[in-house]
Amino acid sequence: MKKIVLFASGSGSNVENIIQYFRQNQQAEVVAVFCNNPKAKVIARAESLKVPVVLFSKEELLGESVLLKLHAFHPDLIVLAGFLLQFPLNIIQAYPDRIVNIHPALLPKYGGKGMYGMHVHRAVIENKETETGISIHYIDEHYDEGDIIFQKSTALNGSETAEEIAAKVHELEHRFFPMVIEQLILHS
Ligand code: GAR
Repeated sequence: MKKIVLFASGSGSNVENIIQYFRQNQQAEVVAVFCNNPKAKVIARAESLKVPVVLFSKEELLGESVLLKLHAFHPDLIVLAGFLLQFPLNIIQAYPDRIVNIHPALLPKYGGKGMYGMHVHRAVIENKETETGISIHYIDEHYDEGDIIFQKSTALNGSETAEEIAAKVHELEHRFFPMVIEQLILHS
């Protein structure tokens, strides 16, 4: 059985969806959820699904302690599913080609520093985009710039609020992210 470790910072709807997906699957399981935010809803979601949660601070992420805790779970794949801090170089170098992120826009547009969650959807509205979508990509040392694995777009009619765009994007994430993870883990 392959092992997946998830990283998340907020609500955790993707985390819950991925955990549930791999409950029906003999190939892989989610062995832990790493979270930097003690107030995040994802903690209760993971605990209610009996998946261990590892809480850490930004300082711990930048030091060695998160890397050491991660090693203890022997992950085959590390998945950033709504993780909002920059990922540290020591973990990227320890797990080359084994860390993927989901971004709520069609990269390379709307990537980079400050572009996360609702900030992305507000910028999409400001620029009157006629489509948006999701990007699943490898993590490297440059923010939101690793090789793209998968993208899916959704049309916009120009009247959506940022919340409505977020809901459309979440729908795509919930539909496609677990399947893409499954393909990656089968070939890992
Ligand atoms: C998701 O839309 C994800 O793409 C985004 O945060 C949201 C988390 O939702 N990630 C980023 O913006 C990373 N730059 P969730 O907590 O309900 O899964």
